[in-house]
Amino acid sequence: MRGWGRIGRRFEIMKGLILSGGSGTRLRPLTHTSAKQLIPIANKPNLFYAIEDVVNAGVKEIGIVVGHTKKEVMEAVGDGSKWGVKVTYIEQDAPRGIAHAVLISEKFLGSEPFVLYLGDNVLKGGINEFVEEFEKSDASASVMLTKVKDPQRFGVAEIDSKGRIISLEEKPKQPKSDLALVGIYLFRKPIFEAVKRIKPSWRNELEITEAIAYLVSHKHKVTTQIVKGWWKDTGKPEDILEANRLILEGIAPKMEGTVEEGVEIVGRVAIGAGTVVRRGSSIHGPAIIGKNCEIGPNAYVGPFTSVGDNSKLVNVEIENSVLIGDSVIECSKRIRDSLIGRHVHVASADNSVPKCHKLILGEHSVISI
Ligand code: G1P
Repeated sequence: MRGWGRIGRRFEIMKGLILSGGSGTRLRPLTHTSAKQLIPIANKPNLFYAIEDVVNAGVKEIGIVVGHTKKEVMEAVGDGSKWGVKVTYIEQDAPRGIAHAVLISEKFLGSEPFVLYLGDNVLKGGINEFVEEFEKSDASASVMLTKVKDPQRFGVAEIDSKGRIISLEEKPKQPKSDLALVGIYLFRKPIFEAVKRIKPSWRNELEITEAIAYLVSHKHKVTTQIVKGWWKDTGKPEDILEANRLILEGIAPKMEGTVEEGVEIVGRVAIGAGTVVRRGSSIHGPAIIGKNCEIGPNAYVGPFTSVGDNSKLVNVEIENSVLIGDSVIECSKRIRDSLIGRHVHVASADNSVPKCHKLILGEHSVISI
């Protein structure tokens, strides 16, 4: 089935595959209880940015590959009607790799071209141009590339002056270039042969990078496009904070809450419904505060901070941080560069004897005191 889009352009790509499984080990302890793709960036789950990009590119049916966090991903996304698309869930029994996810989705994808989008990636500017270029070409695959400082962490492409791929390698110890493969790919039918032919890697996964290398070595056309804006793979806490900063750079001011007298709001700040900012508080944007929060009295929320719904900040200073929500922070300290999960309580020990740090921390918690 094909659709017709703006100014009569044919939307060839009707299906999208978004990956939302994996174990998220580098984001523990948050990922002990939550899917890494649901960690919010500027108060919106990472996965929703991927869904929006795919929907904006004209996709009507999305397959979401889920793992052990299936239930909460399904609860957050639902049947796709929020975005006007149909969502189908595809279960992967264990994190067996991106190419494995494609393999088990063959029935859903059929023989039509499709976009594959990793649910923990965030890209500025969407994928429309990337998709349009691919639709005009007869390539079997197209990959997005971007320069990175630490190519060892990614799939790496070596290309010639015309952008043709010379080699592709997954997490090379000695990278041949600084061009990382972004987790957004376009494929036509030959990818299924490739994912069936490759063998599991050293990390016991079927690597999509190897499947694409298979296409290249079997004389298939694989095109490349360099990312124009910024791109982040939010695998580690510092990546989440950086993605949060990048999204907040473009945030529009909004005031749906109430602000008491004697409050200072500077720069671009978005405040959600039901939120109260109490006396003596100061908010410096860019920042976002969700719904039903209590900020203050005497709280400072500094630049590049996202505060999730139902949070309470009293007598505390916080900046360049992500608070997922439902937490209470009430200590006369300055908190920076922090990622704080749900239902966390940070209290003051100022009036306790002896003055000490009292900690109840889950496995894999990270604190600096
Ligand atoms: C995966 C891919 C890698 C790509 C990266 C982008 O890595 O294997 O080639 O560069 O996504 O996010 P992983 O997240 O599985 O380590």
